[in-house]
Amino acid sequence: MRAIVTGAAGFIGSHLVDRLLTLGHEVLGIDAFTETYAPARKLRNLAQAIEDARFELIHADLLAADLPRILHGADVLFHLAAQPGVRESWGKDFRCYAERNVIATQHLLDAARGSALQRIVLASSSSVYGAAAPPLVESMRPEPISPYGVSKLAAEELGFAYRRSYGLPVVALRYFTVYGPRQRPDMAFSRFITALSQDRPLPIYGDGGQRRDFTYVDDVVAATLAAAEAPADGVPINVGCGTTISIAETLELLGQLLGRAPTISIQPDQLGDMRATHADLTRARSLLGYAPTVPLAEGLRRQIAWQAQEPLASDCPR
Ligand code: NAD
Ligand code: UGA
Repeated sequence: MRAIVTGAAGFIGSHLVDRLLTLGHEVLGIDAFTETYAPARKLRNLAQAIEDARFELIHADLLAADLPRILHGADVLFHLAAQPGVRESWGKDFRCYAERNVIATQHLLDAARGSALQRIVLASSSSVYGAAAPPLVESMRPEPISPYGVSKLAAEELGFAYRRSYGLPVVALRYFTVYGPRQRPDMAFSRFITALSQDRPLPIYGDGGQRRDFTYVDDVVAATLAAAEAPADGVPINVGCGTTISIAETLELLGQLLGRAPTISIQPDQLGDMRATHADLTRARSLLGYAPTVPLAEGLRRQIAWQAQEPLASDCPR
């Protein structure tokens, strides 16, 4: 197939590109190389892909690009470009979330109306659930508690509106806190591994009792690929690991894996931070044939090994 990946140079997007190329597909990647973290690191994410003759990279912003031309001749669109980060989405920064998550998605969907796309896979987020109590099921009413969550829910809903009105074959995947090599430097494990490796205290928001369903990036990529051929569209689908662990418990695990005793720097609770996530995977199993394969300890070992050899891994402007 000829696939388009937006956000191709990002954490998850670059893994998806690598996997598509390994499977023999043709890939057109688009990325604006935004400054949320070092653009040089995003380029390194694509080091392997750039060597492949079946990969083409367009350095462009979805808000300004000639999208009908870009989508021409493509079979599947994987839309991962976004302004990520839950806790930073308040205040004046929301403009960026509105533009990159909502307006950019609407531009793409509008351009897709005249295309031959057989599937449009939108990257959504567990943050749409917000205050809902886990296990989180797609049939629950979303109650986002962060502006980021609102922007991702708006993008999903736009996709479904274009499906209802124009018949676009849209599926939205609700990814649950993704980790592994190339993880964004603002995210918890990336920051914890860097701090532990440098014998610095780990910044913990609140009491560390918040729980997450952490999902290894290769499992997320497998679900995303499966979504291109899912037998139904017009629905959101959870993509998690189906397990849950508190942040405090992850510190013990990381300490064991790195052979160091963590010290903690307690930071204020963060508005918008969900108390607990835990994905119900019934729909992912039935529509995507999805089964997560990488347990947390193994995934963290791989992320630790990657961070140890990536000089820009801890470069974080936030
Ligand atoms: P990332 O920041 O590493 O990747 C996103 C990429 O999109 C970046 O390279 C950025 O330059 C690009 N981009 C942003 N706005 C753009 C625009 N207007 N035009 C072109 N490119 C643009 O983030 P990530 O963690 O890989 O997240 C990928 C997707 O998955 C996002 O949609 C995010 O909301 C979603 N998601 C991520 C997680 C997670 O845990 N990482 C969880 C749930 C959902
Ligand atoms: C992550 C991504 O950053 C979002 O883009 C994504 O949409 C979301 O997952 C999702 O699943 O939908 P988050 O769960 O906040 O968001 O991921 P982390 O940044 O890894 O944080 C995990 C937990 O660790 C949070 O409760 C956070 O408060 C805590 N944390 C994070 C700390 O205690 N200290 C830190 O330095 C960073």
